[in-house]
Amino acid sequence: MAIVRRFKVEDLGRVMDICEVSFEERYTAEFFLSCFEANFDHFLVAEEGDVVGVVLGIGYFNSLGRILILAVDRGFRRRGIGKALIEAVLKSYMASGISEIRLEARVSNRIALALYGKFGFKIAGRTRNYYIDGEDALLLSKSLPSVSVLD
Ligand SMILES: CC(C)(COP(=O)(O)OP(=O)(O)OC[C@H]1O[C@@H](n2cnc3c(N)ncnc32)[C@H](O)[C@@H]1OP(=O)(O)O)[C@@H](O)C(=O)NCCC(=O)NCCS
Repeated sequence: MAIVRRFKVEDLGRVMDICEVSFEERYTAEFFLSCFEANFDHFLVAEEGDVVGVVLGIGYFNSLGRILILAVDRGFRRRGIGKALIEAVLKSYMASGISEIRLEARVSNRIALALYGKFGFKIAGRTRNYYIDGEDALLLSKSLPSVSVLD
C-alpha cells in the first residue's frame, strides 16, 4: 500500500521520470526545486517501495491553492494512488487555511476530469490554447471549508 508524504530533494529523479512519461510538457529540475524552496507544504509524493506518484501544489497568500502537477507512475495507476494524493493535498491545504483550490486540466483528459469531479471540483472557465500543442484547458475550482484548530 502506498503512503503519501512530503517531497524530499532525493525524490527529484523519480518525480521527473514520472512526469516525463505522464505529460507532453517538460518540467526541469529547477522548476521542481524552485517550487519546493518557495512552498514545500503541498508538494507530496506517494511511495510504495519507490516514489510512484506526485502532487505538486502551491499556496498563495494563505488563501488560494493551485495544483500544478498530479501524476502516477503508469504501472501503479487505477489503484487509488491518485485519489490518495488528492485527499492528502486537500488536507494539507485545509490545515494551512487555504479556502480555494484551482487547477487546469486538458479538455480531453477525461480521467483527470472524472477524478477531480469526485472531489467536488467544478469547471470554472476555459482557457484557449493553454497547452504547448494548442489544446484548451478547463479551469477547475473547489472551495474548502474553513477549519478552526482547538487546543
Ligand atoms: C490522472 C491520474 C493521476 C490518476 O491516477 P490513478 O492513481 O490511476 O487514479 P485512481 O486509481 O486514484 O483513480 C481515481 C479515479 O480516476 C478515474 N480514473 C482513473 N483511471 C481511469 C481510467 N483509466 N479510465 C477512467 N477513469 C479513470 C476514476 O474516476 C477513478 O475513480 P474510481 O477508481 O472510483 O473509478 C493518472 O491517470 C495519471 O498520472 N495520468 C497522467 C497525468 C495526468 O493526466 N494528470 C492530471 C493532470 S490535470
